[in-house]
Amino acid sequence: MYYPDDLVEEIRTRNDVVDVIGSYIRLQKKGSSYFGLCPFHTEKTPSFSVSRQKQMYYCFGCGTGGNVFTFIEEYENFTFQESVKYLADRVGIKLPEGEESVKEKQQRAKKQMLMDANRDAAYFYHHLLRSREGEKAYNYLTGRMLSDKTVNSFGLGYSPKYSDALYKYLKQKGYADEILKESGLFHYDEKRGPSDRFFNRVMFPIMDVNSRVIGFGGRVMGDALPKYLNSPETSLFDKSRNLYGLNAARTSRKSYALLCEGYMDVISLHQAGFNNAVASLGTSLTQGQAILLKRYFDKAVIAYDSDGAGRTAAIRAIPILRNAGFNVKVLRLSPYKDPDEFLKAEGEEAFEKKIKEAVPGFLFEIYVLEQSFDMSDPDLKTSFYRQAAERFLIFDDEIERNNYIEAFCRIYDISRKEMESLINKTALKVKAPKSERAREPSLERQGADDVLKRTGCMLFTFLSEDEDNFRRIERYIAPEDFSDDVARKAAEFLYEGYRTGKRISPGQMINFFPEPEDQKRVAALFNAPFPEEMEKEEKEKALTEIVKRIKKQSIERAGGTVRSPEELKKLIENKKMLQELKIEL
Ligand code: UTP
Ligand code: MN
Repeated sequence: MYYPDDLVEEIRTRNDVVDVIGSYIRLQKKGSSYFGLCPFHTEKTPSFSVSRQKQMYYCFGCGTGGNVFTFIEEYENFTFQESVKYLADRVGIKLPEGEESVKEKQQRAKKQMLMDANRDAAYFYHHLLRSREGEKAYNYLTGRMLSDKTVNSFGLGYSPKYSDALYKYLKQKGYADEILKESGLFHYDEKRGPSDRFFNRVMFPIMDVNSRVIGFGGRVMGDALPKYLNSPETSLFDKSRNLYGLNAARTSRKSYALLCEGYMDVISLHQAGFNNAVASLGTSLTQGQAILLKRYFDKAVIAYDSDGAGRTAAIRAIPILRNAGFNVKVLRLSPYKDPDEFLKAEGEEAFEKKIKEAVPGFLFEIYVLEQSFDMSDPDLKTSFYRQAAERFLIFDDEIERNNYIEAFCRIYDISRKEMESLINKTALKVKAPKSERAREPSLERQGADDVLKRTGCMLFTFLSEDEDNFRRIERYIAPEDFSDDVARKAAEFLYEGYRTGKRISPGQMINFFPEPEDQKRVAALFNAPFPEEMEKEEKEKALTEIVKRIKKQSIERAGGTVRSPEELKKLIENKKMLQELKIEL
């Protein structure tokens, strides 16, 4: 479906990029931009910036960037058309109805068939569980104290011993091999042909939030390894954007989600009335899952296994959840291994009590930090306080920080005055943006081309900032001086805008570049400011240097292709100008 340009533009301007991205990740204002943890790569300190003025985002860490449409495309895994539709809906703009293209029709039909195949497989396994063949699996589940009601509501099943039972069943239902191949339910071997991925396992269908089966986990009934097999990722099954149990948990109407590690934990918890339990899908928690969960809950209580691996996983999950806007707490279940074991031993009321006593995420982090210091050694004890002080810098809210300082001092035996002064000292030393910059590779270590690309971006950002800057530069640099096509085209738009007084915003400009790689490059062009601490003189020198370099390269390129006397004359003029060139601010 093709939408007219001015409609697309209206949808873009009505969806403010800061509001939209801010509904996905936590953003904090710094100067004229907003910063947050990048949802497209893993990082600990925020280098993902969003600008209301430019209506674009850019990550200094991984270089991704674009406008509000590209964000939705990347984040939700949507096509451009889908992101237009999504954002139109968001602001109540009605899109014209149109015919689906043939390709769109085919894609939709295929997706539907994949869903049907997964659903039929789930019925097949579930049915078998209740047959003679599935007796052992059924007994296994009841042996683990699951009721019939629970087995049914989670659609649990059994995959039989024969390694082609499901294949035969689905073939007989009329599914084509093309679909079965993509379903992830089979292995296709060149010699031996297709065989079932799962056999002789207890089957856990994995559903999306709308209770559509998108994959499976299968558990052995004994101690064999691997304990679980899972469906591979398919076009339906994105492990980083779905959570086990969320289809049921989303309607629990509780304010907090219980986040656990295992399928079995989720099932036991639901059976015990904790129908707000969810788990990730055999991988560690992702930002995408946290954001998905945030649509339904404001608080998250982590109920991971009490072993070292569970603790490490919790330490990883806390900032991810926090960044998605959650208030995070952590359950301490030891001496029991996991929620399932705890419930069996202590019962529901005791678990309820545990939830009430859950430790705030921040204090849990501090507790884990303390474990790595021998507190009987005075030097190590000092190091612990220092590192703890650094952690306090995550709080912007003074009341929140003070409350945590109070709690900390009570637990770790230090006076409030001492701790406050330590935190203040640390705050002066640690300046987040600087340390971020320090991690970037130095200019020398990059290739000459990269340097030019980078400094080219700086120049571009500078001249896009305001008209005065543009006037300083336009005498020396024309759009054709930029060597790469994207920069040249973007410069043409920019120059044209300044000259006609009809400037288009960077966010709008992105729409003229259909390729994602080009969109990122455009975002980079608009997002490379000079370091803030640069003095005026230094900046003048740097700008002069950059303009010279770009101009020189452009002259060299032109030198090879001079054809007419006019061109030669221009070339000589250019060279002369280069010698005298100086940018003043
Ligand atoms: P656990 O081993 O804690 O499993 O792994 P569990 O769900 O609590 O099962 P029981 O109680 O031992 O029967 C936690 C999760 O890690 C993934 C699964 O998603 C599991 O639920 N996992 C574990 C795998 O994907 N593969 C494995 O081999 C093991
Ligand atoms: Mn477990």
